[in-house]
Amino acid sequence: MVRTSPPQDEVSQWPLPCLGSGTTRLLGIFGDPVAHSLSPVIHNFSLNLLGLDYRYLPFHVAPSRLYDALQGFRILGGTGFNATVPHKEALLPWMDELSPAAARIGAVNTVHLQDRMIGHNTDAHGFLAALREEYPQHPTGKVLVLGAGGAARSVLSALLDTDCSAIFLANRTEQRAMDLARFFAPFDPDRRIKPLPLAVDQLPWEEVSLLVNTTSLGLKGEATLPVALHRLAPDCLVYDIVYGPQGTPLTRLASRHNLHAMDGLGMLIHQAAAAFSLWTQHEMPIAAVKAHLLRAR
Ligand SMILES: NC(=O)c1ccc[n+]([C@@H]2O[C@H](COP(=O)([O-])OP(=O)(O)OC[C@H]3O[C@@H](n4cnc5c(N)ncnc54)[C@H](OP(=O)(O)O)[C@@H]3O)[C@@H](O)[C@H]2O)c1
Repeated sequence: MVRTSPPQDEVSQWPLPCLGSGTTRLLGIFGDPVAHSLSPVIHNFSLNLLGLDYRYLPFHVAPSRLYDALQGFRILGGTGFNATVPHKEALLPWMDELSPAAARIGAVNTVHLQDRMIGHNTDAHGFLAALREEYPQHPTGKVLVLGAGGAARSVLSALLDTDCSAIFLANRTEQRAMDLARFFAPFDPDRRIKPLPLAVDQLPWEEVSLLVNTTSLGLKGEATLPVALHRLAPDCLVYDIVYGPQGTPLTRLASRHNLHAMDGLGMLIHQAAAAFSLWTQHEMPIAAVKAHLLRAR
């Protein structure tokens, strides 16, 4: 038997499935890979809680299809999307306009499609907002940043907006640290960023009040991050922007050294909250999101 669809004017009387209706607006994340992303959980939980008529979906977009995906999303009337590895830098040339943060960082993690396509970067905000939520006094004094990849760009941009007195930037490939220091030189008149090789014996562990890990090391059983936590001052804070179900190997090691430590879950939530406000003009219920994710941990 062929079932017929209800007439349009009756549709609103049906118990519609929660996936959406003709008025539902589309949000999402482009990544490769993307299946691991917590962003759909964060956004859909918030949208449901606030009763907003949007859905946020993960899209596995290969680098070679980024432009097609962008056009397809625009043609389908999507409101906006996040970008994760490896698309953050690749999106730059396709944007009609860049926010000051995206232009300064040189990467886009949030796209807002209106008449024009606007590229934003909310990672630097997320990094600092999460830090100050837990440790309002930070950052002070000198900071040691490990890693000079894409995430380090946002961290450096955020740190340059604070009063920290020096930013030691240590990377396995020293040239990359030197390139980043040069990239940020126009925003760093006092030359606070000091590039170094990631050589444990040569890093100024004793001098810093904040250690930030931006390398991708630790969660997937790769080599252990070379650190000398025993040389840190007792009140030094260890901030790993990586996150995991039980913290990260670095935050667990820091706790064993009786150091204060935080992972990147707060940064993830705060960068998401800034994107959420841009798209929906509503505040993300950050405390509820955090409680939801920590319950699932
Ligand atoms: N919490 C958040 O909201 C948030 C936001 C963004 C990123 N992240 C996390 O930050 C991490 C880094 O992301 P990314 O985009 O910066 O990655 P990326 O651009 O690929 O950079 C990776 C960094 O890790 C270093 N590295 C990799 N393997 C290493 C090893 N065996 N020994 C020493 N250093 C090594 C690289 O050094 P070389 O230059 O020498 O290769 C580089 O500095 C990821 O785990 C990501 O999930 C978190």
